[in-house]
Amino acid sequence: MNICIIGVGYVGLVTAACFSSLGHTVIGIESDIDKLKKLKKGFSTIYEPGIDKLIKEGLRKKKLFFFSDIEKGVEKCEVIFICVGTPPKDDGEPDLSHVEKVVRKIASSLRGYRLIVEKSTVPVNTWQWVKRTISLYNKHNSEFDVAVNPEFLREGNAVKDFLHPDRIVMGVENERSRDTLLKLYEKIKCPKLVTGLPTAEIIKHASNSFLATKISFINSVARLCEKVGADVNEVAQGMGYDKRIGKSFLKAGVGYGGFCFPKDLAAFIHMAEKNGCDLGILREVQKVNESQKKLLISKIKDALWVLKGKTVGILGLSFKPDTDDMRLAPSIDVINLLQKEGAAIKAYDPQAMSNAGKVLKNVKFCKDPYLTAKDSDCLVFLTEWKEFELLDMNRIRKVLKTPAIVDGRNIFDPEKMRKLGFVYGGMGR
Ligand code: UGA
Repeated sequence: MNICIIGVGYVGLVTAACFSSLGHTVIGIESDIDKLKKLKKGFSTIYEPGIDKLIKEGLRKKKLFFFSDIEKGVEKCEVIFICVGTPPKDDGEPDLSHVEKVVRKIASSLRGYRLIVEKSTVPVNTWQWVKRTISLYNKHNSEFDVAVNPEFLREGNAVKDFLHPDRIVMGVENERSRDTLLKLYEKIKCPKLVTGLPTAEIIKHASNSFLATKISFINSVARLCEKVGADVNEVAQGMGYDKRIGKSFLKAGVGYGGFCFPKDLAAFIHMAEKNGCDLGILREVQKVNESQKKLLISKIKDALWVLKGKTVGILGLSFKPDTDDMRLAPSIDVINLLQKEGAAIKAYDPQAMSNAGKVLKNVKFCKDPYLTAKDSDCLVFLTEWKEFELLDMNRIRKVLKTPAIVDGRNIFDPEKMRKLGFVYGGMGR
């Protein structure tokens, strides 16, 4: 099938590259000329394991193309995916102006039947606005359907998540669009849930909100564990064996970040309020998440007493491992709070330092973890990059000014660290 993907950011680019690898012919639309040039040469504009290979393959096999012009994509493709961003406004409501602009452009380009699929994460019943707007600007009265096909891609794992998903959700209004979507995804083996359009929109928000709830739940339990001498990692393990609970998303730490959970929770709460429902449980989830960063600061203070004039080394800046994404990373708030108290900051991240440089001020970025630890009064871990597990901790202890470690992601075994001579603080252990 011929597919047009409008907006090739994280979600759009992964969708485009993966659909082309499944044998479809895909046109990705990118309006930024520099990014477009890079993509046409076969280079990814995002850091995502496996994506470069798929882009190069797609271009070589002439299954993947990049254009700047929406009209060209709509003309050549029977299915159009909307994958543009929906950044949050100050009150938590998402800004849908990019979606609206793209929808108007699609409408004025229609010259025959097209299936228009909403993949961007949007408030419930946005599909109705999409439909209404297309009808208004549809100069040639072309036939069209609207469908909702939310994404469940994790950054750093997005290619695998696309090609081997737990499920595919398709919100449709008729058999024609259902059949088209089923054909599009026929090579992917997984449960395929066909629903109404508002249901599909809610599934996306409810899924992210539930995962964030699991994280704040375990972080709350972690506080109690600490007080009574229990180990939250073992508590999570013990809970996770129960299939009804599941093992994933029960890792206690400095809290969730990124561009999805914080934004989607705020949007879901706002959407519920607008519809006269109170999702107070999610406000509590947000509150717990915010307080995790303050809790981490109090652990650094437990180690150092006064922060003014001290140097804190930070290992891990991205909001999670295997990404260079700094958007709403807990490291930003933690570093700002430490600087406010007068601490100097040294930092290292395997991938995110260039992006971190754009959002953090007065941070000395170091070439490796050992240089970050050198002469620091305390070493703080904020992202669980694999390479941190392999560090020579004896070497780290020797270069630190004082052997203090605050492990914001429970990477290390507390007992082992204490035996190595560290003053060690974890989260809930
Ligand atoms: C999340 C969802 O997992 C995807 O299914 C969804 O498609 C995506 O949002 C989206 O809406 O686009 P992502 O933001 O890439 O994906 O990252 P996650 O792997 O879900 O992690 C989110 C945050 O939770 C990270 O900061 C991570 O460190 C934190 N986390 C995760 C924990 O603190 N504990 C855990 O046990 C798991």
